[in-house]
Amino acid sequence: MNDKIAVIGAGMMGGAIITSLLKSGYTGKIIAVDIQPEKLEEQKKLGVAVSTDSRKAAADADIIFICVKPTGVKTVLTQINSTVKGKLVISIAATVPLKYLKKFVPDAKIVRIMPNVAALVQASYTAYCCGENVTKKDKQKVKSLLNRMGVCEEVEEKYMDAVTALTGSGPGYIAVIIEALMYAGLKVGLPRNVALYGAAQTVLGTGKLVLDLQEHPAKVKDMVTTPGGTTIEAVYELEGSSIRQALMRAVEKASTKSKLIREELGVNSE
Ligand SMILES: NC(=O)c1ccc[n+]([C@@H]2O[C@H](COP(=O)([O-])OP(=O)(O)OC[C@H]3O[C@@H](n4cnc5c(N)ncnc54)[C@H](OP(=O)(O)O)[C@@H]3O)[C@@H](O)[C@H]2O)c1
Repeated sequence: MNDKIAVIGAGMMGGAIITSLLKSGYTGKIIAVDIQPEKLEEQKKLGVAVSTDSRKAAADADIIFICVKPTGVKTVLTQINSTVKGKLVISIAATVPLKYLKKFVPDAKIVRIMPNVAALVQASYTAYCCGENVTKKDKQKVKSLLNRMGVCEEVEEKYMDAVTALTGSGPGYIAVIIEALMYAGLKVGLPRNVALYGAAQTVLGTGKLVLDLQEHPAKVKDMVTTPGGTTIEAVYELEGSSIRQALMRAVEKASTKSKLIREELGVNSE
């Protein structure tokens, strides 16, 4: 696959997408577009072409990623509108639905995705949903691109707010947990580097156990809990806390906020 790719908005996520494509050995041309010259300097150092002209970059590309904030999507789509007929336009903007995107680029094949920042290390979970005119062949192409960033899964669009809340924002919650575990390590006297490395690797390893063994997390918890041992002392403390409810509330709040932002953007009425 060596389609020309334009990434419009080379910030945190656009930059992560470009990095993951490069790390995966993508051989097609990549052009990074941004209105911030310093963002483009960073991309130039990675060896990709850069531009401040969205329209020209989209005209030159086969596939266009829209990686600006939800409030900036309309401007970008209006700029590239005449250049994307029959091309894949992939929006990563949270909250912005397919039908809104279609209004501005009706002739494009639109895909809405929700990756996360772990794309930087090719470990994103990316959910995607597609417009009606996206063919099986297009989907294969999209999947092969998204798999370079981690793993991907097609979902119905009605789940995108929930996915945004769980996996798009998820690295934020897990970072809080890693930080808390790191401080727990300090509390019991570990050197700082041992506490941080140990906490992060334990989160990574536990995720891998759940995925590779295809086990319910409760089974993993059971696997490490010996009668009268150390783990049950800790699990007892956790079960008496509101940690489960806190995480559920966090995801619920983020999902509700996603809907609110969409209302504030007025995308439903436009
Ligand atoms: N951050 C995450 O973890 C995450 C995860 C999943 C999805 N998303 C989605 O990803 C999108 C981007 O988020 P981000 O965190 O990467 O934002 P970001 O770091 O602010 O990056 C967006 C970049 O696009 C630039 N930009 C704005 N308007 C532009 C235009 N018309 N043409 C070219 N470039 C333009 C911005 O410049 P200015 O700063 O001057 O505006 C900025 O450099 C959002 O829609 C968000 O919902 C984010």
